[in-house]
Amino acid sequence: MDTINLKKKYIDFFVSKNHKQIESASVVPVDDPTCLFNTAGMMPLVPYLLGNPHPAGTRLVDYQKCFRLTDLEAVGDKTHHTFFEMLGNWSLGDYFKEDAVAWSYEFLTKVLEIPVEYLSVTVFEGNEVVARDEETAKLWIKAGISEKHIAYRPAEDNWWPSIEQLGPCGSDTEIFYWSDTKNPPPEVYDPEDDRWVEIWNNVFMQFNHLESGEFVELKQKNVDTGMGVERATAALAGVDDNYRTELWWPVITKICELSGKEYTEENQRPMRIIADHCRAVMMIASDDAHIVPSNTDQGYVLRRLIRRMLRYAKMLEININEDFDVEIVSILSDIFADYYPEVKRNFNQVAEVLRTEKKKFAKTIEDGMKEFEKSLKNLGDAKQLPAEKAFRLFDTFGFPIEMTVELCNERGITVDEEGFKALFAKHQEISRKGSEGKFKGGLAESNDETARLHTATHLLQGALRKVLGTGVQQKGSNITSERLRFDFSFDRKMTPEEIAEVEKLVNEAIKADVEIVKKEMSYEEAKESGALGFFSNKYGETVYVYEMGEFSKEICGGPHANRTGELGSFKIQKEQACSSGVRRIKAVIQHD
Ligand code: ALA
Repeated sequence: MDTINLKKKYIDFFVSKNHKQIESASVVPVDDPTCLFNTAGMMPLVPYLLGNPHPAGTRLVDYQKCFRLTDLEAVGDKTHHTFFEMLGNWSLGDYFKEDAVAWSYEFLTKVLEIPVEYLSVTVFEGNEVVARDEETAKLWIKAGISEKHIAYRPAEDNWWPSIEQLGPCGSDTEIFYWSDTKNPPPEVYDPEDDRWVEIWNNVFMQFNHLESGEFVELKQKNVDTGMGVERATAALAGVDDNYRTELWWPVITKICELSGKEYTEENQRPMRIIADHCRAVMMIASDDAHIVPSNTDQGYVLRRLIRRMLRYAKMLEININEDFDVEIVSILSDIFADYYPEVKRNFNQVAEVLRTEKKKFAKTIEDGMKEFEKSLKNLGDAKQLPAEKAFRLFDTFGFPIEMTVELCNERGITVDEEGFKALFAKHQEISRKGSEGKFKGGLAESNDETARLHTATHLLQGALRKVLGTGVQQKGSNITSERLRFDFSFDRKMTPEEIAEVEKLVNEAIKADVEIVKKEMSYEEAKESGALGFFSNKYGETVYVYEMGEFSKEICGGPHANRTGELGSFKIQKEQACSSGVRRIKAVIQHD
């Protein structure tokens, strides 16, 4: 197997072009309630694309942890994953089309040594917002791409994220790789030929799509690029199955060993699902956001992944009462240790999550089997299980259709699979709409009120540390235009007096109406000055410290209010347990 080591090559290349490497942000968006997970490399950078200066400068490069729930049901084929990594380079009002195209070309043809005829590109054909992108087409030709390998495409293909979505956006140029190893690339590029696989997207992000429908020019012209690590690695390795690359093969080998089965057509789907889900579970549960299985939000996703993975392991006759999943995670953590130290640091946390959830799941499987037996009894002499029953087993008890079919077949009964597919399609449509809605909001929600609420979290943390002691540390935060949520380490319920005291301190800070002072300094200087900053490995070398008089001093990316007096009056609405050793406060600010 060829070792591509794409991430290292990509980072090194853009660093050589004066980009600063930034750490992957947490897989969970900070301060963004509208999105459960980061779904693209640019998501953590939205404030900077909108014009806030980034402490690491105007040229950035990274690999970012991403997770897409929308692809959950598609996992099991050769190319889809829930968790994936996205490489990206950014210009925040620095270079634009010329350098972006030249460097993309140089990286692909010189560093990765892809023969130029294996590359094709699309550019934007133009609309009422922006003209046909002949400039980019010319730049590609100048670099070395044949005119016959360039196609102009409409907004459905070459506008990112999509023409409907709000927030920062723009036309893009997409790069495709000829993936057919048996036939040479054709002379003329045909966008409909799916042997051309998209490996990279360069977005010329220069607009903000407002709720009014208007596209206004951003303060600066940005470049936002994204290259999916798994897909590009497979393309470059000359395989059409992502799982046959260096990123996955050691994991598949382990699953073969655990199940005593081979990676043959009939076993591939469950094996891929187990590999994908174990990796996603490791990435989510080891993340410093400290997600644990629950019935809401990210915790629920984690629960679903574990349960789904276990069912497929059962299908492969793996003994799920043993630590087979922890063994798989151990291999995965070796693969990722150099990139995400938390996978090793928090390894025991991941193992614990898996073990605990497995115990809980044993009970659900039992209930599901009871429901299944009941459905069979109700069938009487009929020989087919109705679609609604199969769907209920899927939806409520989490039985994959394959498992229901198998259980039925063992008893000489069929399943209305067509009917199931129809119900399933309807269900998917609903969840697709749901997550698109979330994504939309995720990009759009950044306004003065969220900045004020975010500022209030600084004052809240300061007050909590005064009242409860300096053991209090921020564990997470989530903000809508209506309220703030703040998670912090503390091991018991707060008393009503403590809550009242914290509220009082925050309101005093607001009344004092102190100026919020932003200072730029090195991370070490910031730490020495006593600034709080708990996600230390997430910062670049230069950081911003926000000081609010005596009340707060924190390393942060912003945006914030200008003075504490802008915040209105602060009220804690709820104080509750969040997870073991972590409490959660929900609070509002009221403007008279
Ligand atoms: N943000 C762009 C993408 O995800 C680069 O495709």
